[in-house]
Amino acid sequence: MADYYNEIQKRRSFAIIAHPDAGKTTLTEKLLLYGGAIQLAGHVRAKKDRKKTQSDWMKLEQERGISITTSAMQFEYNGFILNLLDTPGHEDFSEDTYRTLMAVDCAIMLLDGSKGVEPQTIKLFHICRQRNIPIVTFINKMDLPAKDPFELLDEVEKVLGISTVPILWPIGSGKDFRGVYHLKENKVYLYEKTTGGAYKAPVQVKDYKDQDFKDLIDPEIYKSFIEGIEIASELLPDFDLKQFHEGKITPVYFGSALANFGIELFLNEFIHIAPAPTSMKLADGNEIHINPDQFIGFVFKLQANMNKAHRDRVAFIRIASGKFERGMDVQIAFKKKNVKLSSPVSFFGQKRSTIDEAYPGDIIGLINPGTFQIGDVLYTGEEPQIITLPQFAPELFARIILTDTSKIKSFRKGVQELAEEGIIQIFYLSDGSSILGAIGQLQFEVFQARLQDEYNAPCRIEKMPFECSRWILEKDKNKFSSYDLIVKDIHDNYVVLFKSTYRMQSFQKENPDIPLFDSPLALRKYQESLAKSR
Ligand code: G4P
Repeated sequence: MADYYNEIQKRRSFAIIAHPDAGKTTLTEKLLLYGGAIQLAGHVRAKKDRKKTQSDWMKLEQERGISITTSAMQFEYNGFILNLLDTPGHEDFSEDTYRTLMAVDCAIMLLDGSKGVEPQTIKLFHICRQRNIPIVTFINKMDLPAKDPFELLDEVEKVLGISTVPILWPIGSGKDFRGVYHLKENKVYLYEKTTGGAYKAPVQVKDYKDQDFKDLIDPEIYKSFIEGIEIASELLPDFDLKQFHEGKITPVYFGSALANFGIELFLNEFIHIAPAPTSMKLADGNEIHINPDQFIGFVFKLQANMNKAHRDRVAFIRIASGKFERGMDVQIAFKKKNVKLSSPVSFFGQKRSTIDEAYPGDIIGLINPGTFQIGDVLYTGEEPQIITLPQFAPELFARIILTDTSKIKSFRKGVQELAEEGIIQIFYLSDGSSILGAIGQLQFEVFQARLQDEYNAPCRIEKMPFECSRWILEKDKNKFSSYDLIVKDIHDNYVVLFKSTYRMQSFQKENPDIPLFDSPLALRKYQESLAKSR
């Protein structure tokens, strides 16, 4: 049993949240470099015309010519096992991003030192906040002119409402960037440029009072650096692990992912302060407690066509409790279905390997011939009454028109598979034609691009003038006006689309007896409670 908990203690499962261009791809690459998952960070940067529909890891694959097109990757670092999850589609908010953040225990918030907190940072931060997961801040691009460190900390506090505790303090920025000062160790880490930042950057440790250190720095910068660390040491609170784990404070690091500076320093601390997997807080307010005797995992992502040659589909499962063993039998909650988990894979750098066992915090990939759906809970023992992922009522709707009717067969297959993957929600009109529902515009673009690329089914997307949707009881389906549109979801539930939130609210006011549900789950719970009370 001690071994079981030791294995869990070694694990760190996290994602990087960032506004586009802050350096997420670069930081990911450097973390993999330090973790030995890739050998050399290359120089090939032929990505100018990359498509925004690709995930960052796909981007990385394209740029580096290495194959890491997967949503979760495991690597070892100093005796720890790190599970890094990609947060895809970060150029717009998507359900996929949301779900990935439900499967991690910690997030690295990456900021561009010259820009500070940007719109996408705010959205992603708030998603993490809902689960109170700890957030570590890394301020990147210090080798370029950056905002004043106090201004950056102030921005994080004011805009995001979280207290900051700087651990490192930058010495200058841009062409005057000389390194960072560790406020607890009282040590200077000097910045030395490496060609292209391709190898691990060497560091030299000095005392900031050393004359040869002073000689390196412009007197003005030295002066403001000394003032900065004096104020930071006096005024800013000490780092408190408990408060960090409760999501109340964020430790702040400075560095340059491109120049490879500050990454190792950061990683060495990150593995110690980031929390090991523990009880998981879920979207429905419940928690999954770790119990060595009960396996619980949930599907947070389905990915089709990861390898075009194999056209396989992989279900990514976050293990939340118990121990996974290859070949084990599990049940799928609510579906009363038994499955044998016989071909699990994990992803390490360029390799995909079969795994025999896995622990809470780990992500396993299961080749999925249509068995699993997003949000499925896999378990042994007693059926857990939990909802792992939030479901959304779409706010954007569109018609989808196949432009080459000879592709109807692959079109149908694509629509169904991509909907199962959770790329988009599909609704059906009474004549059988389909409507797409999304909460972010990018979802439409990804859907369209993937239908074209992977299923060779070119289509046109036409926006529809509806702004919100609610699930309804079948008996109420004739109670709506001709302004509203009644459709069905893939599980045959009735859904009403309203032209505006105002229209929905006035309907609700006029018809207080007709229940409207913001997710199929809320509808199901209502139906279950009705059945029980009968
Ligand atoms: P993203 O995934 O968050 O969108 O960002 P990405 O890593 O692709 O980085 C965006 C741009 O910022 C890239 O430049 C990258 O080289 C640069 N960058 C990332 N980290 C640093 C850093 O620490 N310092 C500096 N100076 N630049 C950094 P690009 O011009 O868009 O691409 P490329 O031509 O360099 O490939």
